Amino acid sequence: MYSYRANENRYDNAFVRRAGDSGLELPAVSFGLWHSFGDTANFGDSEKVILKAFDEGIFSFDLAYNYGPGSGAAERMFGNVYREDLKPYRDELVITTKAGFNMWLGPYGNFSSRKTLINAIDGSLERMGLDYVDIFYSHRFDPNTNLEETADALNDIVRSGKALYVGISNYDSKQTAEITKYFKEMHTPFVVNQASYNMLNRTIEDDGLLDTLRDNNKALVAYGPLAEGLLTDKYLGGMEDDIKVHWSNDFMFKNGKDALVKKLNELNDIAANRNQSLAQMSLAWLLHDDVVASVVTGASKVDHLMSNLEALKNTKFTADELTKIDSIIKG
Ligand SMILES: NC(=O)c1ccc[n+]([C@@H]2O[C@H](COP(=O)([O-])OP(=O)(O)OC[C@H]3O[C@@H](n4cnc5c(N)ncnc54)[C@H](OP(=O)(O)O)[C@@H]3O)[C@@H](O)[C@H]2O)c1
Repeated sequence: MYSYRANENRYDNAFVRRAGDSGLELPAVSFGLWHSFGDTANFGDSEKVILKAFDEGIFSFDLAYNYGPGSGAAERMFGNVYREDLKPYRDELVITTKAGFNMWLGPYGNFSSRKTLINAIDGSLERMGLDYVDIFYSHRFDPNTNLEETADALNDIVRSGKALYVGISNYDSKQTAEITKYFKEMHTPFVVNQASYNMLNRTIEDDGLLDTLRDNNKALVAYGPLAEGLLTDKYLGGMEDDIKVHWSNDFMFKNGKDALVKKLNELNDIAANRNQSLAQMSLAWLLHDDVVASVVTGASKVDHLMSNLEALKNTKFTADELTKIDSIIKG
């Protein structure tokens, strides 16, 4: 028997968005399990924040084969919470996973060949105790495998019943446009590209990815919306010397730490005028564009999660606010 009973009012204040013109709907904020739910994490703490998220209307959980620390570890942790508590709610949940980054030893533990993707999904399903995932992602573009093979493998995974929808992650605009053609030919339910996007990181805007997705009625799932915590109040007073970030955020330090801290404080002034924290404004900013179906946050503490959800109460920006934000970032 299950001891957990989900909050009956969980959808009363939930913000739900549609991915392009598909049938897939996502919570405006999804829950990411990248690096706080691995081998060193405590089950009780993980269970608490995951269930709190679900009670607050966050019904999408974002995983990958390699999330940990420890390959497969976050899927195992999530699987334990699923088996213990969430299984009765399977029909409501959008559970997503990915394959392509450092999964197992040897040539097939990386990238997006047919063998890699088709082997990976089985391990993910087994660890999480699932019959299917809602979105299965190719975690990254494979420079050595033709895109048609990757698209075909993803299509076969859906046809085998192991995933409902297909996603791609970290594919640029050109790669997205090309793989979309193959998916169209096969009628594959391709819905989203998950990419790094936040107020400080505009790479996908400059590359044209947002327009490509919009033109094809597909959506963006934005990861790293708080730039791994840079866009919170954590660093307003300065940063430690040995701070480490994901490769996709390295460029933010190109003018040095002090210049970044100055920008964060200027952004924080705009947030304060909106009665938001810097983190809340950063999440809200991503959601002011309809092409963004969901932002995946990596908050692993209940108080961070609850404070972040407050962002959803005000996702509108004046033209003046948007201009000021852009000039701080680009200045
Ligand atoms: N597709 C990909 O290649 C890819 C790559 C990276 C990430 N992702 C996905 O995106 C998710 C989020 O990535 P991310 O971890 O970089 O996200 P993020 O939300 O930008 O950053 C998470 C960090 O911010 C902190 N934080 C969150 N809310 C806060 C608040 N209100 N105040 C202070 N600190 C706060 C968290 O601390 P606490 O943990 O202490 O709460 C954590 O250290 C991942 O879990 C994963 O699902 C995907």
